[in-house]
Amino acid sequence: MKLQSVRGTRDFFPEDLRLRNWLFGQWRTVASSFGFEEYDAPVLESEELYTRKAGEEITGQLYCFEDKGGRRLSLRPEMTPSLVRMLLQKGGGLALPIRWFSIPQCWRYERMTRGRGREHYQWNMDIFGVAGVAAEAELLAAIVQFFKGLGLQAGDITIKVSSRKVLEGVLRKAGVADEQFAPVCVLVDKLDKLPRSAIEGDLEALGLSADLIDTILAALSLTDLSELEAMLGADSTALADLRSLWELAASYGITDWLVFDPSVVRGLAYYTGIVFEAFDNGSLQRAVCGGGRYDQLISTYGGKDIPACGFGFGDMVILEVLKDRALIPDLDGAVDDLVFAWDASLRDAAVDVACRLRASGRSVDLVLEDKKVKWAFKHADRRGAARMVLVAPDEWARGEVRIKDLTTGEESNTSLDAL
Ligand code: HAM
Repeated sequence: MKLQSVRGTRDFFPEDLRLRNWLFGQWRTVASSFGFEEYDAPVLESEELYTRKAGEEITGQLYCFEDKGGRRLSLRPEMTPSLVRMLLQKGGGLALPIRWFSIPQCWRYERMTRGRGREHYQWNMDIFGVAGVAAEAELLAAIVQFFKGLGLQAGDITIKVSSRKVLEGVLRKAGVADEQFAPVCVLVDKLDKLPRSAIEGDLEALGLSADLIDTILAALSLTDLSELEAMLGADSTALADLRSLWELAASYGITDWLVFDPSVVRGLAYYTGIVFEAFDNGSLQRAVCGGGRYDQLISTYGGKDIPACGFGFGDMVILEVLKDRALIPDLDGAVDDLVFAWDASLRDAAVDVACRLRASGRSVDLVLEDKKVKWAFKHADRRGAARMVLVAPDEWARGEVRIKDLTTGEESNTSLDAL
């Protein structure tokens, strides 16, 4: 039998889980400092939740199967559809706006590269019920607060921001039908990943001429908002949204982190407005998170649309970024006390001592077998214990234990009541 976890998945040994818990702790701290509430959903969903027709990569990467009852199910590749499903279940009974976050494990049958696996944990923060870009600004501020909390600076990471409305403006002008918008976005997202010739045929099949593809490429290579104004006109909503977002970002003090980059389109079909991706400028050169506005996703599931925006932030890329920059903190799995009975006759006494210490809030490793003192000291060292609590015959007879501070080497006797 193969002892490795299934290809693309990870075992979390205690030292790995320490790191994961630390990261989740950072995410939870930021989310709650922005007033977000945590939610969760099952990892298993109906496959139909993900069968959108826009040709997204994600729908070809599903871990899907038929269960014993003949239902088509899938492990979730992302959280957004589950979130929408949950909101639909409440049938408009939730007071808006909603700010919710979660840290789901997501599954995608992907080609594996550094920072990309077949399962990952993904911090999601989403706001429902806010139509203006104030919601996007709030989300971007949360992302920046998280980066800063890790010790990253504006030059380390760049958050590339654009709006799907840029492309929408270009396509509208060219007379491309609205229904083509989502599939065109999905294809255009691949333009910087695959050779142009590979997707030109697909774009043409959607009714885009070679000239229009050139215009799209020109729009995607703009570098500032005044160029965008020249291209789409001063009354463009894409332009207005982006300008407002930058003004708000200035109030949050995060403009150093942002850059307007229309080449960010995002590979998921449902985005309708502002889209963004944070990129590592170090050795990874890839997206650490991504998100945007998706005001029309709910109606694709038969509900009434509510303005929505959010982001997903994976655990794998950011940990690589932190390793690269030596920003992973020292996390030891240390216990406070190691409790050791001098001999077998004091085992019950040692249990009593451990219980008292645990009740007082200390973490305690109790030696459960007959061992020599020398072994106990070695074990205390391995566990990083701060103190050795020795239950020895003479001290115990007086209602005391011997405590050795393993950092200073100081020894003293303490009465049981003072533990
Ligand atoms: P996404 O861009 O597909 O967006 O994924 C978001 C993030 O999840 C990526 O930037 C990356 O950090 C991480 N990620 C995705 N796939 C993998 C993988 N195979 N291995 C490691 N990490 C990965 C979404 O999923 C949207 N649902 C995000 C969202 C939430 N939009 C609005 N609300």
